[in-house]
Amino acid sequence: MAARPCKTVGYTTNSNPNDAATALNILISMPPQQADKAAQWATAMQSRLPSATVSIDNGGEITQTVDYLLTWQPRADLLSQLTHARALFTASAGVDALLHDPNLPACPVIRLRDAGMGEQMADYALYACLHYARGFDRMRAEQTRSQWTPSAGATSRKPTAGVLGLGTLGCVVAKALVAHRFPVRGWSRRQRELDGVLSFAGSEQLPDFLAACDILICLLPLTPDTHHLMNANAFAQLPSGACVVNLARGDILVEADLLAALDSGHLRGAMLDVFAEEPLPSSHPFWHHPSVTVTPHIAAETLVEPGADQIARNIERLEQGKPAIGCVDRTAGY
Ligand SMILES: NC(=O)c1ccc[n+]([C@@H]2O[C@H](COP(=O)([O-])OP(=O)(O)OC[C@H]3O[C@@H](n4cnc5c(N)ncnc54)[C@H](OP(=O)(O)O)[C@@H]3O)[C@@H](O)[C@H]2O)c1
Repeated sequence: MAARPCKTVGYTTNSNPNDAATALNILISMPPQQADKAAQWATAMQSRLPSATVSIDNGGEITQTVDYLLTWQPRADLLSQLTHARALFTASAGVDALLHDPNLPACPVIRLRDAGMGEQMADYALYACLHYARGFDRMRAEQTRSQWTPSAGATSRKPTAGVLGLGTLGCVVAKALVAHRFPVRGWSRRQRELDGVLSFAGSEQLPDFLAACDILICLLPLTPDTHHLMNANAFAQLPSGACVVNLARGDILVEADLLAALDSGHLRGAMLDVFAEEPLPSSHPFWHHPSVTVTPHIAAETLVEPGADQIARNIERLEQGKPAIGCVDRTAGY
């Protein structure tokens, strides 16, 4: 393998013939600007699977069998070289970019489930809901005019939060909002049961779901079915004065339609962490729009330690002939 053995943790092989991970080659491939992160993953994986050979991709030709790849944004010519990979692990929850790679091997693709991201997502979503529920957006606008308006329009009714996507992260977010006494509704492909959450499923129930979402929070995966799902038609179905929070992927939302809905006054505000183009170009109208808050794709970062726990456990399961947990359904796209 034309890859750098993980020097920080040593390079060991066959030290324990009874270890399920004996002689396994695990390659870690991240973009060059993520070299520190790759090293952290290598250390974490090596400590969990001491008999495996954990290497960091150095951008060269792969000359040795790779049993497992752990990657985020693999380089363009990598996947076509992994003809014998037993599984690909993503260091992320989303797999949209990987699934579009024409050289993706036929082996299972396994994503992270939560890995520390749920709590961060819940914090972001809660911040957004409180921001709008307490009228901080309006007070911020008033501050720019040196305007003192003591009544923030407090009512006993909290706005209804609607979570698009009740998967791993959507469930954590929905539960956190319920715990903070927001009325919560959720939408997924299949019907989900979640305490305190009014559940809707499938495209036929989307209009009913949207009709009462004062704050719409997107935690859907980007798939052919969800691409541009948040469009003019969906925004028109939200109550007047609703807010939109996109924490998932930029291409789920039609940015021009969102701007039009904000500028018409139908929507009150948007808090956006993800964009069609990232980094968000400096000329993009979102940067200076008074009703838009921009954050640079930081809603939830994968935490290496819980992520490595999951991946090591999955490698052990696969080596024992058991199915991995978190396998991506390539047909559904997530
Ligand atoms: N901004 C960030 O920093 C950041 C960080 C991490 C993740 N993310 C994004 O968050 C997304 C969600 O992550 P996750 O781990 O929660 O994913 P997940 O566990 O796969 O959950 C996806 C949810 O979306 C629902 N869904 C998928 N397609 C649908 C459709 N066509 N119609 C209705 N519902 C649909 C699923 O329905 P079922 O329950 O019926 O399957 C499921 O409830 C990721 O894909 C990623 O893009 C962003």
